[in-house]
Amino acid sequence: MSIDWEKYQELYETAMRLNYGEVVLDHGKNPRNLEDLEKFNAFSIVTGPCGDTIAMWLQVEDDKIAGISFTTDGCITSLAAGSMTTELAKGKSIADAREISQQDVLEALGGLPEDSEHCALLATNTLKEAIKNYCNPEE
Ligand code: FES
Repeated sequence: MSIDWEKYQELYETAMRLNYGEVVLDHGKNPRNLEDLEKFNAFSIVTGPCGDTIAMWLQVEDDKIAGISFTTDGCITSLAAGSMTTELAKGKSIADAREISQQDVLEALGGLPEDSEHCALLATNTLKEAIKNYCNPEE
């Protein structure tokens, strides 16, 4: 039996659209800020209870997030959550970026399935940890 890959791709895309909104699919398939930063002055790596990890790099200049990037070994929703979190944080002051919540990311993504909402929390926790490491480099 041969596999009809075009048909498989079509079915896969349909299944993805049923589970995730357009914004999630866009950020999950084309994540923003996944590139390496040429220079950075803060870093964090956080593993969630699900076992997935997000790493984040910040370049803070004049108390603002001038550059930010991330990577993850997680699923499409952790890619989307990392992408949206970095987009929301970019250009913000440290104080404002620290306030970005799981709910902010979920709202910006147009929601996630309930069992994936923790991906947004992992992304915002990683951002908060990077900010903490910037503010308290000795800890
Ligand atoms: Fe663990 Fe998405 S399933 S971060």
